[in-house]
Amino acid sequence: MLKIENLHVRYGNIEALHGISLYVDDGEFVALLGANGAGKSTTLMSIMRLFPPEAPIVKSGTITYKGNDLIPVQPHLVVAKHGIGLVPEGRRIFGNLTVYENLKIATYARKDFNRISNDYEKVFSLFPKLADRKNQRGDTLSGGEQQMLAMGRAFMCGAKFILLDEPSMGLAPLLMQDLFKVLKELNETGTTIFVVEQNAHIALKYAGRAYVMETGNIVMEGSAAELAHNEEIRKAYLG
Ligand SMILES: Nc1ncnc2c1ncn2[C@@H]1O[C@H](COP(=O)(O)OP(=O)(O)OP(=O)(O)O)[C@@H](O)[C@H]1O
Ligand SMILES: [Mg+2]
Repeated sequence: MLKIENLHVRYGNIEALHGISLYVDDGEFVALLGANGAGKSTTLMSIMRLFPPEAPIVKSGTITYKGNDLIPVQPHLVVAKHGIGLVPEGRRIFGNLTVYENLKIATYARKDFNRISNDYEKVFSLFPKLADRKNQRGDTLSGGEQQMLAMGRAFMCGAKFILLDEPSMGLAPLLMQDLFKVLKELNETGTTIFVVEQNAHIALKYAGRAYVMETGNIVMEGSAAELAHNEEIRKAYLG
């Protein structure tokens, strides 16, 4: 349902993605692995259609979602019309708003009012800690709780397809496992997941399929099980 073909993007005159192709089918849990600077965030920003200077410019290639060309779509409509949500690197929640307010803001463009209260219930049941801290300010949450809130917010946008940029970053190993378990649960209850990770261990444990990226190119792809046993991957990414 998401299909990227031969995508070249640039920042200024410098090309950052050199013709990548990938797809994520409806209902899948797919990971994009790679080291610092490989082009993982650039790939996500290209899908979300964020504006320059922060976001890269598409030189050539296609990005389609459910058959629709995403390239001319404005960023807010990627979320509101196409139902694609982003959990950005560094979480970027509103520190001066409460947990509940952060979630509420995410629903502003939704028209399916009858589903919103169910979705709050789902977020609070997936993340009981957020329920306990409903009225606590965002900036007083721990890093792990902020990550939960960022995930909950993407879900509250009404997104059926959630992109995540290094959700495990800066978290203790046990907390990472907890977050990926929730992602798996979200996936099993109907949300498609595309997660960017440097932590190949955790991503390959929970994803069904993965791509490996190096300096703006996809260099390998396969089932998570296949990649986890691949000798090159083990050497380069699994230590
Ligand atoms: N705003 C920008 N302007 C110019 N170049 C950029 C910009 N953002 C990223 N780049 C360059 O594009 C390349 C890919 O960066 P990107 O952030 O996509 O990598 P990444 O795989 O997400 O890395 P990390 O794991 O460190 O987050 C890098 O060479 C980076 O320097
Ligand atoms: Mg990045």
